[in-house]
Amino acid sequence: MSAFTPDSELELLFTPGLIPAEVKALLGSDLHMRPLAKTDLSRSHLKVLSVLTSTPDLTEAQYAQAFDRLRSCPDTYFTLVIVARETDQIVGVGSVFLEQKFTRNLGTVGHIEDIAVDKSMQGRKLGLRIINALTGISERMGCYKTILNCSDANVPFYQKCGFEKKENEMARYH
Ligand code: ACO
Repeated sequence: MSAFTPDSELELLFTPGLIPAEVKALLGSDLHMRPLAKTDLSRSHLKVLSVLTSTPDLTEAQYAQAFDRLRSCPDTYFTLVIVARETDQIVGVGSVFLEQKFTRNLGTVGHIEDIAVDKSMQGRKLGLRIINALTGISERMGCYKTILNCSDANVPFYQKCGFEKKENEMARYH
Protein backbone atom coordinates (compact mmCIF):
# COMPACT_ATOMS: atom_id res chain seq x y z
CA MET A 1 0.00 0.00 0.00
CA SER A 2 1.29 3.48 -0.90
CA ALA A 3 2.17 5.89 1.91
CA PHE A 4 1.05 8.80 -0.27
CA THR A 5 -1.71 11.01 1.21
CA PRO A 6 -4.03 12.45 -1.47
CA ASP A 7 -4.99 16.13 -1.39
CA SER A 8 -8.59 15.20 -0.52
CA GLU A 9 -7.43 13.89 2.89
CA LEU A 10 -5.47 17.02 3.80
CA GLU A 11 -6.26 20.48 5.19
CA LEU A 12 -4.59 22.69 2.58
CA LEU A 13 -3.44 26.32 2.73
CA PHE A 14 -5.13 27.32 -0.54
CA THR A 15 -7.09 25.77 -3.37
CA PRO A 16 -4.90 23.30 -5.34
CA GLY A 17 -6.50 24.42 -8.64
CA LEU A 18 -4.45 27.62 -8.44
CA ILE A 19 -1.26 25.66 -9.18
CA PRO A 20 -0.76 25.77 -12.96
CA ALA A 21 -1.55 22.34 -14.42
CA GLU A 22 1.15 22.77 -17.07
CA VAL A 23 3.82 23.03 -14.35
CA LYS A 24 2.49 19.98 -12.49
CA ALA A 25 2.50 18.00 -15.73
CA LEU A 26 6.24 18.52 -16.09
CA LEU A 27 7.01 16.84 -12.74
CA GLY A 28 7.95 13.17 -12.85
CA SER A 29 5.14 10.71 -12.04
CA ASP A 30 6.97 9.97 -8.77
CA LEU A 31 6.34 13.51 -7.57
CA HIS A 32 3.29 15.59 -6.65
CA MET A 33 2.96 19.37 -6.22
CA ARG A 34 0.29 20.69 -3.84
CA PRO A 35 -0.41 23.51 -1.36
CA LEU A 36 1.13 23.21 2.12
CA ALA A 37 -0.95 21.03 4.47
CA LYS A 38 -1.60 21.53 8.19
CA THR A 39 0.17 18.24 8.98
CA ASP A 40 3.29 18.82 6.83
CA LEU A 41 5.56 19.05 9.89
CA SER A 42 5.57 15.23 9.84
CA ARG A 43 6.47 15.26 6.12
CA SER A 44 9.82 17.02 6.64
CA HIS A 45 8.71 20.55 5.72
CA LEU A 46 11.15 22.14 8.19
CA LYS A 47 13.94 19.67 7.38
CA VAL A 48 13.76 20.68 3.70
CA LEU A 49 13.80 24.37 4.68
CA SER A 50 16.97 23.76 6.69
CA VAL A 51 19.03 23.76 3.45
CA LEU A 52 18.18 27.47 3.39
CA THR A 53 18.50 28.56 7.00
CA SER A 54 18.19 27.29 10.58
CA THR A 55 14.69 26.07 11.42
CA PRO A 56 12.91 25.84 14.80
CA ASP A 57 12.05 22.62 16.57
CA LEU A 58 8.25 22.95 16.59
CA THR A 59 5.61 20.77 18.17
CA GLU A 60 2.69 19.68 15.95
CA ALA A 61 0.45 22.14 17.81
CA GLN A 62 2.81 25.06 17.22
CA TYR A 63 3.11 24.14 13.55
CA ALA A 64 -0.69 23.90 13.16
CA GLN A 65 -1.09 27.28 14.86
CA ALA A 66 1.41 28.87 12.44
CA PHE A 67 -0.46 27.26 9.53
CA ASP A 68 -3.79 28.64 10.79
CA ARG A 69 -2.26 32.12 11.08
CA LEU A 70 -1.29 32.03 7.38
CA ARG A 71 -4.67 30.66 6.34
CA SER A 72 -6.54 33.33 8.28
CA CYS A 73 -5.29 35.96 5.79
CA PRO A 74 -7.37 35.27 2.67
CA ASP A 75 -5.66 35.47 -0.74
CA THR A 76 -2.31 36.38 0.82
CA TYR A 77 -0.06 33.39 1.58
CA PHE A 78 0.64 30.66 -0.97
CA THR A 79 3.16 28.03 0.12
CA LEU A 80 3.47 24.96 -2.05
CA VAL A 81 5.39 21.72 -1.67
CA ILE A 82 6.63 18.89 -3.87
CA VAL A 83 6.03 15.49 -2.27
CA ALA A 84 7.72 12.19 -3.21
CA ARG A 85 4.82 9.78 -3.73
CA GLU A 86 6.77 6.76 -2.51
CA THR A 87 7.65 8.20 0.88
CA ASP A 88 4.99 10.93 1.32
CA GLN A 89 7.86 13.22 2.31
CA ILE A 90 8.42 16.78 1.07
CA VAL A 91 11.44 17.29 -1.22
CA GLY A 92 10.88 20.90 -2.30
CA VAL A 93 9.07 23.98 -1.01
CA GLY A 94 8.47 27.62 -1.88
CA SER A 95 6.16 30.54 -1.08
CA VAL A 96 4.70 33.64 -2.64
CA PHE A 97 2.81 36.24 -0.60
CA LEU A 98 0.76 39.07 -2.05
CA GLU A 99 1.18 42.74 -1.15
CA GLN A 100 -1.76 45.08 -1.83
CA LYS A 101 -0.61 48.56 -2.88
CA PHE A 102 -2.21 52.00 -3.18
CA THR A 103 0.08 52.79 -6.10
CA ARG A 104 -0.12 51.14 -9.51
CA ASN A 105 -3.88 51.66 -9.53
CA LEU A 106 -4.29 49.62 -6.31
CA GLY A 107 -1.97 47.00 -7.75
CA THR A 108 -0.72 43.78 -6.17
CA VAL A 109 2.88 42.52 -6.00
CA GLY A 110 3.91 38.90 -5.49
CA HIS A 111 6.91 38.33 -3.20
CA ILE A 112 8.65 34.96 -3.56
CA GLU A 113 10.26 33.64 -0.37
CA ASP A 114 11.90 30.55 1.11
CA ILE A 115 12.65 28.37 -1.90
CA ALA A 116 14.34 25.12 -0.90
CA VAL A 117 14.97 21.77 -2.58
CA ASP A 118 16.27 18.79 -0.59
CA LYS A 119 19.99 18.25 -1.32
CA SER A 120 19.38 14.78 -2.78
CA MET A 121 16.91 16.24 -5.32
CA GLN A 122 18.75 19.39 -6.39
CA GLY A 123 19.60 19.74 -10.09
CA ARG A 124 16.39 17.97 -11.25
CA LYS A 125 14.56 21.18 -12.21
CA LEU A 126 12.40 21.11 -9.07
CA GLY A 127 13.51 24.62 -8.12
CA LEU A 128 12.52 25.83 -11.60
CA ARG A 129 9.12 24.11 -11.35
CA ILE A 130 8.49 25.68 -7.91
CA ILE A 131 9.34 29.16 -9.23
CA ASN A 132 7.19 28.70 -12.33
CA ALA A 133 4.26 27.51 -10.20
CA LEU A 134 4.59 30.42 -7.74
CA THR A 135 4.93 32.94 -10.57
CA GLY A 136 1.84 31.41 -12.20
CA ILE A 137 -0.14 31.80 -8.96
CA SER A 138 1.07 35.40 -8.64
CA GLU A 139 -0.11 36.11 -12.19
CA ARG A 140 -3.47 34.39 -11.68
CA MET A 141 -4.02 36.43 -8.52
CA GLY A 142 -3.59 39.59 -10.60
CA CYS A 143 -0.10 40.70 -9.58
CA TYR A 144 1.59 43.07 -12.02
CA LYS A 145 5.05 41.76 -11.02
CA THR A 146 6.73 39.07 -8.93
CA ILE A 147 9.93 39.89 -7.06
CA LEU A 148 12.42 38.19 -4.71
CA ASN A 149 15.73 38.68 -2.90
CA CYS A 150 18.61 36.24 -3.26
CA SER A 151 22.35 35.80 -2.79
CA ASP A 152 24.80 36.48 -5.64
CA ALA A 153 25.30 32.70 -5.90
CA ASN A 154 21.63 32.17 -6.75
CA VAL A 155 21.38 34.95 -9.37
CA PRO A 156 22.10 32.54 -12.30
CA PHE A 157 19.36 30.18 -11.05
CA TYR A 158 16.77 32.95 -11.00
CA GLN A 159 17.92 34.24 -14.37
CA LYS A 160 17.26 30.73 -15.74
CA CYS A 161 13.78 31.06 -14.22
CA GLY A 162 13.20 34.25 -16.25
CA PHE A 163 13.97 36.88 -13.59
CA GLU A 164 16.24 39.86 -14.16
CA LYS A 165 18.43 41.74 -11.70
CA LYS A 166 16.90 45.07 -10.57
CA GLU A 167 17.96 47.59 -7.94
CA ASN A 168 19.36 46.62 -4.51
CA GLU A 169 18.23 44.84 -1.35
CA MET A 170 18.57 46.73 1.98
CA ALA A 171 18.16 45.09 5.39
CA ARG A 172 18.07 46.15 9.05
CA TYR A 173 17.97 43.30 11.52
CA HIS A 174 16.20 43.47 14.93
N1 ACO B 1 24.18 28.65 -10.16
C1 ACO B 1 24.01 28.52 -11.50
N2 ACO B 1 22.99 27.83 -12.06
C2 ACO B 1 22.13 27.22 -11.24
C3 ACO B 1 22.26 27.29 -9.84
C4 ACO B 1 23.33 28.04 -9.30
N3 ACO B 1 23.52 28.21 -7.97
N4 ACO B 1 21.27 26.56 -9.27
C5 ACO B 1 20.54 26.06 -10.30
N5 ACO B 1 21.05 26.47 -11.47
C6 ACO B 1 20.57 26.19 -12.82
C7 ACO B 1 20.53 24.70 -13.11
O1 ACO B 1 21.77 24.24 -13.57
C8 ACO B 1 19.44 24.64 -14.17
O2 ACO B 1 20.00 25.07 -15.41
P1 ACO B 1 19.64 24.36 -16.81
O3 ACO B 1 18.20 24.65 -17.06
O4 ACO B 1 20.55 25.00 -17.78
O5 ACO B 1 19.89 22.90 -16.60
C9 ACO B 1 18.45 25.73 -13.72
O6 ACO B 1 19.21 26.63 -12.90
C10 ACO B 1 17.29 25.17 -12.91
O7 ACO B 1 17.85 24.49 -11.79
P2 ACO B 1 17.03 23.47 -10.90
O8 ACO B 1 17.45 22.07 -11.19
O9 ACO B 1 15.59 23.78 -10.98
O10 ACO B 1 17.59 23.87 -9.47
P3 ACO B 1 17.31 23.13 -8.07
O11 ACO B 1 16.15 22.22 -8.15
O12 ACO B 1 18.58 22.55 -7.58
O13 ACO B 1 16.90 24.35 -7.13
C11 ACO B 1 17.75 25.94 -5.55
C12 ACO B 1 17.71 25.49 -7.01
C13 ACO B 1 16.33 26.23 -5.08
C14 ACO B 1 18.57 27.21 -5.45
C15 ACO B 1 18.35 24.78 -4.71
O14 ACO B 1 19.66 24.52 -5.13
C16 ACO B 1 18.37 25.01 -3.21
O15 ACO B 1 17.44 24.63 -2.50
N6 ACO B 1 19.45 25.64 -2.69
C17 ACO B 1 19.60 25.88 -1.25
C18 ACO B 1 18.59 26.90 -0.73
C19 ACO B 1 18.59 28.20 -1.51
O16 ACO B 1 19.62 28.81 -1.78
N7 ACO B 1 17.35 28.66 -1.88
C20 ACO B 1 17.11 29.89 -2.61
C21 ACO B 1 17.09 31.05 -1.65
S1 ACO B 1 16.54 32.57 -2.40
C22 ACO B 1 14.83 32.64 -2.05
O17 ACO B 1 14.32 31.80 -1.36
C23 ACO B 1 14.01 33.75 -2.70
